[in-house]
Amino acid sequence: MGRLDNKVVIITGAASGMGLAGAQLFAKEGAKVVATDVVDVLEERVQEIVNNGGDAIALKLDVSKQESWKEVVEKTIEKHGKVDVLVNNAGIHIAKGILEAELDDWNKVLAINTTGVWLGMKEVIPHMQKNGGGSIVNTSSIAAIVGGFGDGNGAAYSASKGAVRSLTKHAAQNFGEHNIRVNSVHPGAIYTGMVEAAGIHSQEEMGAIYEGRAALKPYAGEAMDIANAYLYLASDESKYVTGLELVVDGGWVSRS
Ligand SMILES: NC(=O)c1ccc[n+]([C@@H]2O[C@H](COP(=O)([O-])OP(=O)(O)OC[C@H]3O[C@@H](n4cnc5c(N)ncnc54)[C@H](O)[C@@H]3O)[C@@H](O)[C@H]2O)c1
Repeated sequence: MGRLDNKVVIITGAASGMGLAGAQLFAKEGAKVVATDVVDVLEERVQEIVNNGGDAIALKLDVSKQESWKEVVEKTIEKHGKVDVLVNNAGIHIAKGILEAELDDWNKVLAINTTGVWLGMKEVIPHMQKNGGGSIVNTSSIAAIVGGFGDGNGAAYSASKGAVRSLTKHAAQNFGEHNIRVNSVHPGAIYTGMVEAAGIHSQEEMGAIYEGRAALKPYAGEAMDIANAYLYLASDESKYVTGLELVVDGGWVSRS
């Protein structure tokens, strides 16, 4: 028995990092995975999941575009007839503070990290309502809770993740009566493609930079640490959990 047997899961940003780890773990736990991303390498990653015996398809999705969401949800309903779980994981980071960022930087980060989350919920919730419920997991960050090192000096990033934190609670309150649970996950420093793109080439190297922030060694987590949080919130094991901020940061924000 898998922990997600027969559940149809849409996950965004599934070509890399936490999204990829989530798609792999969900497939192992029996889900029918609709893995989405903007990049072409998604096809290869999903083929690997299928080769390992998983049930997964790859669909192109730009989370900031409503038409793109409509297409993905329509194809999912055509193929599987329902959506049980939505994981709004896709996100970008631009390391510019309030004074350095240009309006384009600001708009780009907000469009993907925040508007993308709202659009996903807007398109999927009506299908969950028809289906008698569902679980939505929104990826925020410790940047929604602390500043400084915690947001990697991204002003728009910090604002975008703060909005995801509060939007999650709004949705949790408004759709609880439809048995739709909505929770946010708040990763700390996690070694992924996003971090590699910033010029850090291993979990250990990342940990050395963040030493003293988290309580747990090696002071940086891995993508599967977050995928495990996604799995708990996606599964019926969390059936009485909604509006939760699940912080997965090695103890960073609990340190004053
Ligand atoms: N890595 C960290 O330390 C960290 C910490 C806190 C929060 N997060 C958040 O975790 C989530 C996953 O990040 P990650 O670290 O795995 O990064 P990643 O860069 O490895 O993966 C993000 C994925 O999102 C995709 N993406 C980018 N723009 C998109 C768009 N418009 N539409 C659809 N997909 C798009 C990318 O192609 C990529 O595959 C993000 O929301 C990120 O902000 C990361």
